[in-house]
Amino acid sequence: MTPRGRHFFANPGPTNIPDSVQQAVAHGTVDFMGADFLAVYDRCVEGLKRVLRTTGHVFMYTGSGHAAWEASLANLLSPGDRILVIETGHFSEAWSRMATDLGLVVETLPAEWRRGLDYAALREALGADRGHAIKAVCAVHNETSTGMTLDLARIRAILDAAKHPALFLVDTISSLGSIDYRHDEWGVDAAVGGSQKGLMLPVGFSFTAVSAKAMEAHARSTLPKHYFHWSRMLERRHKSFIGTVPIALFYGLQESLRLIEEEGLENVFARHHRLAEAVRRCVRHWTGNDGPQLFCLSPERVSDSVTSILVPEGHDAEALQRRVATMNVALGAGLGRLGGKVFRIGHLGDLNEPMVLGTLAATEIGLRLERIPHAPGGVDAAMAYLAETA
Ligand SMILES: Cc1ncc(COP(=O)(O)O)c(C=O)c1O
Repeated sequence: MTPRGRHFFANPGPTNIPDSVQQAVAHGTVDFMGADFLAVYDRCVEGLKRVLRTTGHVFMYTGSGHAAWEASLANLLSPGDRILVIETGHFSEAWSRMATDLGLVVETLPAEWRRGLDYAALREALGADRGHAIKAVCAVHNETSTGMTLDLARIRAILDAAKHPALFLVDTISSLGSIDYRHDEWGVDAAVGGSQKGLMLPVGFSFTAVSAKAMEAHARSTLPKHYFHWSRMLERRHKSFIGTVPIALFYGLQESLRLIEEEGLENVFARHHRLAEAVRRCVRHWTGNDGPQLFCLSPERVSDSVTSILVPEGHDAEALQRRVATMNVALGAGLGRLGGKVFRIGHLGDLNEPMVLGTLAATEIGLRLERIPHAPGGVDAAMAYLAETA
């Protein structure tokens, strides 16, 4: 039977699409070289740069975040180059596997997934690399599998203090437009992002924001590329996209950027923080003696776009997810080695208090029905916090 009522989508990406963006995406086909579209396109590029806080160039591709991962590696590096990937969770592992497949030598800086990076270990690894064999350091700003963030300004400072020339590559896929990100200020050389999370668009395009240093590295890079070739892109009018531009998504982006600017980027971040904190208050209440708990054990690293929740030993997070789905609420699954152990609540993009509370309430019903131990009343804790901070 077709479920009644609105679908509550609480997966951490793709995310909910605002109605006005959905309508904008329904725009009919136009010539992507025509003057009307080019004006929309150029405005979108400028708007996207403001969200990224950069004055540099942004290369775009028709493809999901994986495309931007691959494009960034292929444009900056050469076969056999060594890169250091900071282990954060499922997505840092996936980016590492891709780099290995592309012919790079991947060194991983290991971390315990519930606590995250030991910054001293990064300092040590860079200090030990006296010959500067490491060509790039890769960091996932917001690890969507564990619900933890990295302090990018701190990583930049460590690179600078070590006088290490490695490129600084950052994945902003689940942070951009939800959590503070400052491309130029933090000296990031290549930042990867996608349309379907904080930008509140359908899946379909992804991008890399680059620094001048990244463009110098690009000139030396010999990994094979064609569709992703940045120099070829610069020869084109759009200075991005080899091939047809995803026209409809740009009408959508024009609208989503309008919404972000109307709210103000700082207010967007504050809204994300407040809704995330409501979710955390609820989970901490559920924890009680032996209930579900925040996967992230480092309070200063918790993510404002997604919360990963560890179910008690002997209980199945997937069964809970299925149960909650019967109420037309989509939670995120545990990814990779966290499968069945963790469920995730996405709280990024087009979201308000009742949407968060509805998701939490359905989850609390699910905990009850699945007989997963928890202290009842988590939703009250979230409501109390939202009332206090209204
Ligand atoms: C942090 C992060 N990086 C990379 C990806 C991969 O992006 P995509 O699924 O759009 O290819 C995701 C997807 O959720 C992600 O959350």
